[in-house]
Amino acid sequence: MNILIINGPNLNLLGKREPGIYGSDTFEDYFNILLEKFNGVDLEYFQSNHEGEIIDKLHEKGFEIDGIVLNAGAFTHTSLAIADAISAIKSPVVEVHISNVFKREAVRHHSFISPVCMGSISGFGLDSYRLGVEALLSIKSK
Ligand code: DQA
Repeated sequence: MNILIINGPNLNLLGKREPGIYGSDTFEDYFNILLEKFNGVDLEYFQSNHEGEIIDKLHEKGFEIDGIVLNAGAFTHTSLAIADAISAIKSPVVEVHISNVFKREAVRHHSFISPVCMGSISGFGLDSYRLGVEALLSIKSK
């Protein structure tokens, strides 16, 4: 079982970025916890601040990998192109958000990618990623 986690723009700053909203842990530290927890799973991580690089990664991995956990950051609310890339690939994609986007500004309530993802997880802090991985493992085992 191989799963790719993709983080979009500004998520490289986790730990430093608005800690009241996103917490004070870096993603690298959290990813190590995930690697330990899911030691039988081949977990990969990719982050980019660039829409086209995220699309390229979805194309590259989306025909071979068992699942993708995607936090598209602000591109969630703007990118028809990322939504089209998700529709184009074969691997199931779970949308995740650290914050509860529905508790925040109205502009964050709309997601271009929700309709083309398997499901969405929002508001559980970094644990949203673990829940995303669990969701992919549970559909794979059915
Ligand atoms: C986010 C929520 C988005 O609205 C925001 O633009 C982000 C992070 C989250 O994980 O809560 O960059 O995706």
